[in-house]
Amino acid sequence: MIDGVPPIPARELPVAVRAPGKCIVFGEHAVVHGAPELVFAIDLHTQVIVRASSELRLNADREATSRNPYFRSALELSWKDRPPIDVRAVSRIPRSAGLGSSAALVASLAAAFGAATGGIDRPTLAQRSFEIERGAQGVGSAGDTTAVVGGGFLAVNGGAGTPLWTVSGPDRTWDVRRVPDPGWVWVVAHSGIPRSTGDAVRAVARRLEAPDGPELLHEFSRVAAEGIRAVGAGDRRTVAELLGRNHELLREVGVSHPRLEELLKAAAPAAEGAKLTGAGAGGSIVVLPVPGKETELVRRLARAGALPFVVRPDPTGVELVEPAHPD
Ligand code: PMV
Repeated sequence: MIDGVPPIPARELPVAVRAPGKCIVFGEHAVVHGAPELVFAIDLHTQVIVRASSELRLNADREATSRNPYFRSALELSWKDRPPIDVRAVSRIPRSAGLGSSAALVASLAAAFGAATGGIDRPTLAQRSFEIERGAQGVGSAGDTTAVVGGGFLAVNGGAGTPLWTVSGPDRTWDVRRVPDPGWVWVVAHSGIPRSTGDAVRAVARRLEAPDGPELLHEFSRVAAEGIRAVGAGDRRTVAELLGRNHELLREVGVSHPRLEELLKAAAPAAEGAKLTGAGAGGSIVVLPVPGKETELVRRLARAGALPFVVRPDPTGVELVEPAHPD
C-alpha cells in the first residue's frame, strides 16, 4: 500500500464504487504543458453499480457506447471481450462544470472493472483512468483522474510531499505527490454555462504558442509552485493572493467568461481569494471564504445565479461501496 492509498480489492459482480469530484486550486491548463498543478478531491460523489446482465447497458440505455465516449473508452480499455454488464451511475457532481464529473465516472468504471478482474492497485488505476479519459477526450493532463483516484490534496509535477505515482502520457509524464490538507472549507460554484474541455485546452495551447507563451507558462508555474508550498504550510493569506494571480493568468489566456467575472465580483465581499477552476470558458469558480462568512458567500453566489457547494477534501478517493447489493 502507498501512503494510505490502499488498492481496490478483487470482488465478484455486482460491484459498487464511488468516486469524488475534483477542484483545481492552481495550475489548470498549464499542467497540460508540464507545469505544476494543485488539485483536491471534493466531497461530491459519483456512484456506479456494475452487474452481470444479458445485454450491455448504461442507465438503461442500450446505445450508451455510441452516446457516451467515456463509457465506450472504459469498456475498450478495461472490459474488452468480457461478458455484458448493466451499469447504473448516479452523481451529485454537475456535468461539464469543471468539477470532475467525467473523471469520477471514468475512475469509478475503471475501479469497478479492476475489482471484477482480480483487483487493481492505485498507481495502475491512476494510469488506466487517465488513459480512458484521454481516449474519450483526445487531449488533457492526468491531473483530474489522479485527484479522483488518490483523494485529498495532490501536487502534480511539483511540491516536496511524499511521491505517490507517475502517470505517463503519449508526450509527457505527470509526477504526483501528496500535499497535507490545511483543513479549510472551500466553496465551488457552477455558472451553469457548459463548455468543452477539449476545445478550451486546444485554444489555450494555441495561445501559448504566441511569443509571450513561454513567459506566461513560466508565471503559471511560479504561481502553482508557490501555491503548493503555501497550501502545504497552511498559509491562507498567500494562497488567497495567488488565487487572484492565477485567475488573471487564466483570463490572459482567454478562458474566463463574463459570467465567471460576475460571480467572482458577487463573491468578493465574503471571499479571501477566488478564481475560475477547471477548463473555464464557463464552468465553475473556487472560492476560499472569509472564515465565518461561508453562508453569506453561498447566499451571494446563489443570488448571482450560480449553483454553489460548500466542499471539503475527500481524503479517500475512489473506493468500493460494500455491500454492493443491500437488497
Ligand atoms: O474543466 P475540467 O474538469 O475538464 O478540467 C480541465 C483541467 C485542464 O487543465 C484544463 C485540462 C487537463 O486535462 O488538465
